[in-house]
Amino acid sequence: MPASCILGTGSYLPERVVTNADLETMIDTTDAWIRERTGIEKRHVVVDGETCCDLAEKASRNALDAAGLQASDIDLILVATTTPDQFFPSTACLLQHRLDAHGCPAFDLQAVCAGFVYALDVADKYIRCGAARHVLVVGAETFSRVLDWTDRSTCVLFGDGAGAVVLGAGDQPGIISSRIYADGAYKDLLQIPGGHGNGRPDEAFVEMKGNEVFRFAVTKLWRLVDETLAANGLSRSDIDWLIPHQANLRIIQATARKLDLPMERVVVTVHEHGNTSSASIPLAFDQAVRDGRIQRGQTLLMEAFGGGFTWGSTLIKY
Ligand code: UT7
Repeated sequence: MPASCILGTGSYLPERVVTNADLETMIDTTDAWIRERTGIEKRHVVVDGETCCDLAEKASRNALDAAGLQASDIDLILVATTTPDQFFPSTACLLQHRLDAHGCPAFDLQAVCAGFVYALDVADKYIRCGAARHVLVVGAETFSRVLDWTDRSTCVLFGDGAGAVVLGAGDQPGIISSRIYADGAYKDLLQIPGGHGNGRPDEAFVEMKGNEVFRFAVTKLWRLVDETLAANGLSRSDIDWLIPHQANLRIIQATARKLDLPMERVVVTVHEHGNTSSASIPLAFDQAVRDGRIQRGQTLLMEAFGGGFTWGSTLIKY
């Protein structure tokens, strides 16, 4: 059975930056509060006319270049996003057109902040069963468009961006294990309550009971890390790099403590772009690949937690 190997990574952040100091002029907040509670220093935000597909396209082209492949080599396109350009066509179809790649299946996958690990799980299964040889997996978001910019409890947390990987069928280990979960019983703790679907389009902004989400996230991620290691017969010391979802530095530190990993072995980018939802893991992954921290042959653990609740992990031999 073929394995899903990482052939290339790419990412893109919009040029416009909103710092904590900028937010101080807009809402009742302080740079000190945001840094202490979240670790975030700034976030990138799209400008008028710039869309999720624009970010996805740039990240995808970077990943294809890194993989040494053309868009026509791709036989499945998956875009994890909660903030698509339109209801339909899917952002994956829009992206396929931009890349001038025609005919292969292309679809969006919505699991909020766990979207990228969900999409990796789907891609891995396509590759393992022989249905695809080269899969483009993208996490792309424009969360700035679904924020209430007067709500200080949420608008300071999120940013826009995109990350992508090209997976290829190979005989190297690649994705060793993938675990995804959901529990809709917690739907009210982190949500965008309104939308055209329920006739409440005016309420299409993020709402979060931050404290409760924080507690659940830490508990679920600790259990997830234990399960992932046990299921693969690994011990904590076998993990070279933790690439966590970048929501809050304190959650990341708690997961690293659970793994006994020093923070030097954790890829942290949350200070640079805040929570970019499904884009956060591929953004962090690409940064650490390009700056040479992550090396071939190393064992990587990705983990994410998001609205739904959804959560999951991907274990990779890079
Ligand atoms: O990506 C999906 C998963 N999402 C997450 O994992 C996010 C999980 N939650 C969190 O990261 C944290 O709960 C937050 C960063 C959202 C909030 O941090 P916290 O330490 O849980 O703060 P809190 O919500 O308990 O609020 C503490 C205080 C409150 O004031 P009072 O009631 O104590 O007077 C808030 O009104 O901080 C106040 N506050 C703020 N103050 C300044 C809330 N937001 C702000 C703000 N600036 N932006």
